[in-house]
Amino acid sequence: MSHLMLCSINVCTKVTNMLFMFILKMTIEIHIIAVFMTSLVIIFTTEASLWDEQRLIHDLFQNYSKFSRPVVNRNDQVVVTFRAKLKQIIDLKDNEQLLQVILYTYQEWTNPLLTWNASLYGGTEEINVDASMVWVPDIVLYNSAEFTFSGGTHKYKTDVVIYWNGSTIWLAPAMFITVCHLDVRYFPFDDQKCPMKFGSWTHDETRLDMRILTNASSDDIYTEHGEWQLLGLEQKR
Ligand SMILES: *[C@@H]1O[C@H](CO)[C@@H](O)[C@H](O)[C@H]1NC(C)=O
Ligand SMILES: *[C@@H]1O[C@H](CO)[C@@H](O)[C@H](O)[C@H]1NC(C)=O
Ligand SMILES: *[C@@H]1O[C@H](CO)[C@@H](O)[C@H](O)[C@H]1NC(C)=O
Ligand SMILES: *[C@@H]1O[C@H](CO)[C@@H](O)[C@H](O)[C@H]1NC(C)=O
Repeated sequence: MSHLMLCSINVCTKVTNMLFMFILKMTIEIHIIAVFMTSLVIIFTTEASLWDEQRLIHDLFQNYSKFSRPVVNRNDQVVVTFRAKLKQIIDLKDNEQLLQVILYTYQEWTNPLLTWNASLYGGTEEINVDASMVWVPDIVLYNSAEFTFSGGTHKYKTDVVIYWNGSTIWLAPAMFITVCHLDVRYFPFDDQKCPMKFGSWTHDETRLDMRILTNASSDDIYTEHGEWQLLGLEQKR
């Protein structure tokens, strides 16, 4: 420490930088070792079940078509439970009347065409697959205000999780832009309501029954906006 006090500002900076570099390098090395060890552990512990999972996916998708609705009888409804939580308000422009938000969407349904007996596959009870491999509901934002109509399902880039009994869960974060008619007569004491309407684009109620999870509070994930305060979130059908 004493020789640091004697040196010029430039030299001191150099010393500090070097020290920093050194720490960085150490961290990287440790990180690499850690990664290496983790992969070893994974190989040793999950070798058998990886094979089971591959066999399961092979068997499950051999005769499966994602283009058919997940029902046993043609007249059955698919019940989709939908929920959207507000993660963040990115922008609310009063001159353009546009609201830009990040939502965490949750969709759940049962696919009776994708079920299996877990004990025949080494106890594999759930699998994660790319959403493009299975039927997914086409629930979109109707009042989307994007140039390309992209209130649609390709917004969701995440995998779906399928359970042995066909229960399927699709969780995805996505950004949406919607038209919100702001009433600024009482500015700045204005409360604004911005409805976002979600629904299936091609299926009517006889084919797809959309239910909502009520009481889905966003408090646990919501990030405050500097200008706008979230007064509440209503979900209704
Ligand atoms: C898929 O269909 C073929 C031909 O109908 C059949 O032989 C095979 O057993 C089926 N596979 C599964 C996993 O059901
Ligand atoms: C699942 O497979 C196990 C082992 O073959 C069998 O004992 C069990 O009855 C099967 N369960 C169902 C629901 O088919
Ligand atoms: C399917 O199984 C999962 C986990 O085993 C369970 O959480 C879920 O409630 C089941 N779904 C149905 C429709 O029974
Ligand atoms: C939703 O929350 C309110 C207040 O906490 C409660 O009175 C109501 O029963 C809840 N509804 C459901 C469907 O859980």
